[in-house]
Amino acid sequence: MIFADPPYFLSKGFTMRSKGRVKCFDKGEWDRERPLSEINDFNKKWLLLCRERLKDNGSIWVSGTYHNIYSVANCMVELGYKILNIIVWNKPDAPLTLSNYHFNFSAEYIIWARKSKDKRHYFNNEIMTYINGGKRMSDVWNIPTTGLWEKSCGKHPTQKPLRLLYRIILASTKEGDLILDPFAGSCTTGIAANLLGRKFIGYEQSEEFLKLGVARRNEIEDAAKASKILRKMSENPNDVMVMINHARKELKNKMIETGICYLRAGDSKGSLCVTPGFERMQYVLLHTAGEDVKMFRLKTKGHFQIWTKKTLEQYGFQPEHATYYVVLLFDKNKEIPLGKSINVKERINTYRARIRPLSDFVGIK
Ligand SMILES: C[S@@+](CC[C@H](N)C(=O)[O-])C[C@H]1O[C@@H](n2cnc3c(N)ncnc32)[C@H](O)[C@@H]1O
Repeated sequence: MIFADPPYFLSKGFTMRSKGRVKCFDKGEWDRERPLSEINDFNKKWLLLCRERLKDNGSIWVSGTYHNIYSVANCMVELGYKILNIIVWNKPDAPLTLSNYHFNFSAEYIIWARKSKDKRHYFNNEIMTYINGGKRMSDVWNIPTTGLWEKSCGKHPTQKPLRLLYRIILASTKEGDLILDPFAGSCTTGIAANLLGRKFIGYEQSEEFLKLGVARRNEIEDAAKASKILRKMSENPNDVMVMINHARKELKNKMIETGICYLRAGDSKGSLCVTPGFERMQYVLLHTAGEDVKMFRLKTKGHFQIWTKKTLEQYGFQPEHATYYVVLLFDKNKEIPLGKSINVKERINTYRARIRPLSDFVGIK
């Protein structure tokens, strides 16, 4: 697979005075605005070299904005690539654009293509669907801009978020695959690739950025740091949530038989606090003291009912702890295969709801 984040050619040497400081909006000489013919020649040259190196079943992703993306798309078609999707990367936290004479810029576009029309590429639709809460993933991705947590070794002016590369790599590669980034910058692609067990080759013209990439690579030699970054990278602020519920073996079996999971509603005074993220809850995970973990899909996302003890009794349960219960109706035929060893042991009780993001549970291979 190839991921390329080439120069967009949008830098005009623009500076502005803000809060007494001169701010420069220029990315660097490598990104300087150029005539369209030069942009086309440049894009054609590197896209040709990439195509020669791409395996028959491989695919290529190229990012851009209106400044370069039409040129990239035209060159790709001319060179024989087959375009598969144009992803709209929507940045929910995009900064405000300086000019008030047009809409705020908050998206980038990522062309995904394969080598040619008749060579089948690899796509892990299954994992994309999991990440998207069981619904087929669309070509509009909401992913925040690069966070401070991924800049601990220094800053690159156009550093891509690890979360973006996480999704791209899982969608289009298998463990052990080789990934190339011809415009590596701070090596975001390489860091995401290595953390996900893929091999990486990057090219970069600037020694300064190369050093930054090496520092980031050294950072993940530390296993604790690597696992922290991997965890952050797999988090998605829009992630669907999983309700975790412990139940004794017999009770759990009864829940699975009926497709009804319940928890005591509220504390001893009877109040019910709904945790933020509840509206994104789409799965229920049942376990017995951390063992025999099973996950099911809810019938309706973010939906729960309040039942009385009596109603539960009508379904054959014998609840003892309260008068009211939070009830989740799940589809017992939709058990979700779990790809990771799961740790849900730390807090065992039947009445305090805990929700965790789905990315904590689904396999990433
Ligand atoms: C948009 S940035 C990539 C940033 C990278 N995705 C990251 O997350 O850090 C493009 C990079 O390509 C490098 N570059 C520009 N022209 C190049 C060339 N002809 N060969 C190799 N690298 C080049 C620039 O120095 C810059 O670091």
